Amino acid sequence: MLDPYKIREDFPILERKVNNNPLIYFDNAATSQKPRQVIEAIKSFYENHNANVHRAVHTLSQEASELYENAHEEVARFINASGMEETIFVRGTTEAINLVAYSQGLHNLKENDEVIVTLMEHHSNIVPWEILSKIAGFNIKYVDVNNDGTINYESFEGAISKKTKIVCVSHVSNVTGVVNDVRRIAKTAHEYGSLVLVDGAQSVPHLPVNVKDLDADFLAFSGHKMLGPTGIGVLYGRREILEEMEPFQGGGEMIRAVEFSSKTRRCSITWNDLPWKFEAGTPNVCGGVGLTEAVKYLKKVGMENVKEHEEALTKYAMSKMRECCKKVKIYGPQTPTAKCGIVPFGVDGVSSHDIALFLDNYGIMVRSGFHCAQPLHEVFRLNSSARASFYIYNTCEEIDRFIEILKEIEQF
Ligand SMILES: Cc1ncc(COP(=O)(O)O)c(C=O)c1O
Repeated sequence: MLDPYKIREDFPILERKVNNNPLIYFDNAATSQKPRQVIEAIKSFYENHNANVHRAVHTLSQEASELYENAHEEVARFINASGMEETIFVRGTTEAINLVAYSQGLHNLKENDEVIVTLMEHHSNIVPWEILSKIAGFNIKYVDVNNDGTINYESFEGAISKKTKIVCVSHVSNVTGVVNDVRRIAKTAHEYGSLVLVDGAQSVPHLPVNVKDLDADFLAFSGHKMLGPTGIGVLYGRREILEEMEPFQGGGEMIRAVEFSSKTRRCSITWNDLPWKFEAGTPNVCGGVGLTEAVKYLKKVGMENVKEHEEALTKYAMSKMRECCKKVKIYGPQTPTAKCGIVPFGVDGVSSHDIALFLDNYGIMVRSGFHCAQPLHEVFRLNSSARASFYIYNTCEEIDRFIEILKEIEQF
């Protein structure tokens, strides 16, 4: 098991006080805090190696290019991709999903085609498909979610057909922490000849994720939720699919040649190799450097340990909330099995924003609202929820303090 007290020493922000109380950060599903190693790697990059990549022959550009390419290799190894050709750097999960939606929507999806999306998706795995369906004319079929927050697999099996071209599913729900059986979904989807896009925003930071085991065609995730900086994320794609796919954005970096013909007075363009074909413009080099350190940090801790630690915290929090609080309701699954470190909850008669504001007075940060998943809240018939989400530096002691304040809220 990991030692959260030892880990905390690496996170400078955890030393600060908020409203005269020690900071308790339970909003990790929104973004994680950053260890000193990541902060220092970013500082060192700007102090020693800053240059644009792949454009100049000088020393700094060579160094920056090597760091940026290494970042792709490091991430590829972390998720067991076949190589850096399969790891495209983007701004985050949202941009990764938009890349697939625009590329597939504009070039491969047609009227009468269908895309399957589950009702537990984050808005970033719903909105791009709704936008593209209006342009390309394909239909979207939504898969039901059970009252306990798990996917209704019968609904999925009823929705899939030969018309299905892409199945979009989150690996882990950002509201309930439910872990979906992606392998099962991918097996069925592939039998029907459909591609599978997995939103890994809440799984890659918290579980060992192996793209070959998942059998996903695409996996999207964000660096900032896994100890890395904001503005850097990853789209994994199966090499043979990426090779066939049209680029999402055009510009420098993503082309090998742009040749003007004086005869046709048009340019003919040859795409660059993978992954650069999908990385138009000057990339977030420094973000890649920060993400490399984040991945190294997580590997050192061990992803199995991360998973176990979060499961233990979730189990502890859920049992304490039940034991000590009379007016607190936990939403989603009632047992912490097959669930990451996320606990959505409410307090009878108190709005989720008031819960979050009350906790904030005591230095405890939780999220309130829809968490960008309004359809799932509609399934639960909730106007909003509060959400505590844990990571490697959280402790049972912090949960005890959280429970104390929840008890005060019950009197509110
Ligand atoms: C499941 C899920 N998908 C997608 C996103 C969007 O991530 P980003 O804002 O980093 O693009 C989030 C962020 O909370 C998420 O939890």
